[in-house]
Amino acid sequence: MPWLKFLKYNYRMKNRSSGLLLWLLLLAMCTGKKPKVYPQPINTNPAVFYNKDVKPIFEKRCAGCHNGATRSTNWLQYSMAYEWRELIKTRVYIYKDMPYGRFPPMPDDERAIVKDWVEQGARE
Ligand code: HEC
Repeated sequence: MPWLKFLKYNYRMKNRSSGLLLWLLLLAMCTGKKPKVYPQPINTNPAVFYNKDVKPIFEKRCAGCHNGATRSTNWLQYSMAYEWRELIKTRVYIYKDMPYGRFPPMPDDERAIVKDWVEQGARE
């Protein structure tokens, strides 16, 4: 290890200042904080549940059409909303083209609740 030889040489030659600097550098390298590896980002917004938070929104905004009769998809049925959750998030939060025709307008906070619900695993 050439750097060790260099340190010993410096020490013997009483040229300690450069050796000291190198030791300090080594110390800094060893104690330096390693970058933390974080898990995949998760949605940390307040917990959202289907029955409590999302179904009332679907009743108000979607059930006129997505009721199993007008359209085959029925968002008032948890299992069906769960199955279609990613597309629901896409249409409601990303494209914002649902509710169909964009009228009456759906406020952004309601859209965000639907998004949080999907991102938190679409819990019942
Ligand atoms: C005025 C009627 C109407 C309302 C209200 C409505 N939709 Fe739709 N929705 C449609 C129609 C028609 C389609 C099929 C055409 C299309 O995909 O653009 C559709 C398609 C969809 C699809 C694709 C799956 C499918 O059933 O074809 C999703 C997901 C969806 N809507 C979500 C929603 C959500 C969530 C709401 C409430 C926030 C909503 N929609 C409100 C009429 C409506």
